[in-house]
Amino acid sequence: MDRIKIRGGHRLKGQIPISGAKNAVLALMPASLLTSEPLTLINLPRLADVDSCCHLLNELGVSTMVARSKGAHPGREITLTADTIASTIAPYDIVRKMRASILVLGPLLAREGEATVSLPGGCAIGNRPIDLHLRALEALGADIELAAGYVRARAPDGGLRGGIISFPVVSVGATENAVMAAVLAHGETVINNAAREPEIVDLCHCLIAMGAKIDGVGNSRLVIHGCDRLHGATHVVMPDRIEAGSYACAAAITGGDVLLQGARSADMAEVLVELKQSGLNISVEEEGIRVQADGPLKGLTLSTAPFPGFPTDMQAQFMAMLALGQGTSVLTETIFENRYMHVPELVRMGADIQVKGRVAVVKGVSGLVGAEVMATDLRASMSLIIAALAAEGETQVHRVYHLDRGYERLEEKLSAVGADIERIGG
Ligand code: EPZ
Repeated sequence: MDRIKIRGGHRLKGQIPISGAKNAVLALMPASLLTSEPLTLINLPRLADVDSCCHLLNELGVSTMVARSKGAHPGREITLTADTIASTIAPYDIVRKMRASILVLGPLLAREGEATVSLPGGCAIGNRPIDLHLRALEALGADIELAAGYVRARAPDGGLRGGIISFPVVSVGATENAVMAAVLAHGETVINNAAREPEIVDLCHCLIAMGAKIDGVGNSRLVIHGCDRLHGATHVVMPDRIEAGSYACAAAITGGDVLLQGARSADMAEVLVELKQSGLNISVEEEGIRVQADGPLKGLTLSTAPFPGFPTDMQAQFMAMLALGQGTSVLTETIFENRYMHVPELVRMGADIQVKGRVAVVKGVSGLVGAEVMATDLRASMSLIIAALAAEGETQVHRVYHLDRGYERLEEKLSAVGADIERIGG
């Protein structure tokens, strides 16, 4: 298995291009199931999760063609065409590798009237139930059965019907499944307490380009007027706000000065507020967001929350950065029950962190020391990379396949701004 070796102590200086957003594209790709016409997604990130999603969609009969983008966007684009659905079964061996596979449930049900999707199961950060997804689809008339580790969903004979969905807890994935099911349902659907993440806004914009009728985009109340069919479209995937925030933390911890090319400030307002609070200079420029360290980092008190609050996907990265902050920081993880897997590894590098339940108290130390560490989940892996960039000596991060799920060309992007980093195969 690959590992990444970093020798710390280099200030990051220069430009980092931000790729298309993983958590947007993993919902946009299944949207191709909603039409028999081609859906083209531009600014496609090169990620393991995108490959897994392609593999699943191919199994369902979707043809996928990846090409170099010709337009203003460098990088790649993908054209997905589901002219006929060959299968409505998302098998366990694919779904277990990528939980976001559950996002084919809503569109398959809307398009074909049935879907059989393996239960995704839990992961390192929590048991990740899908009860909210299932309740939402039942509100649209679906009949849901759980058997042998699979969800079996069937629409009423005349197809899904518009209904009222009120989420007791904000859920990104359940909102995405509900929206993709409702756009082809007969009649109007109201979704209360919908998630407002920028990735959902991006999905709604793509669906509207495909002919869907959605009001309230970006708000917690969505009203969807079902259509008989959707048509193809071309959509540019939004930039990855979590990748951008991760590299901002890397610039901060190394005392650097980095331009996050293509990052969109509106997607990451709360993250920028906290970076400024910690003493960084942040300037929003034409080309992206510039993050300049300006003296020692100050401690923060942070609590994760659904958008527009501080994102749970940035908690591990901020913790690494604040390990070298002045004073004490207090982080509270309110979204997932087990999202502190990075703590023992950061402590092995010399960080002073105490966890009690959902609260982590980080006492700033004067320095970190390189060590052999183990990645456990996507964002935890990035927090170890961030710590390693500032640590004295060499760090080896094992199980970097976690990183490859969500960070495109990480070593290339970091070495281009001065990091001493290399991937060691085998
Ligand atoms: C999405 O996961 C993201 N993944 C996660 O990013 C992100 O951390 C999360 O949203 C929160 O922002 C993708 O978009 C592919 P949720 P999702 O449903 O949709 C509970 C990363 O690092 N819940 O908003 O699975 C759940 O247990 C990944 O890029 C239920 O109880 O998250 C959690 O406590 C990690 N029942 C809370 O809601 C349900 O049916 C929020 O989960 C669904 C969720």
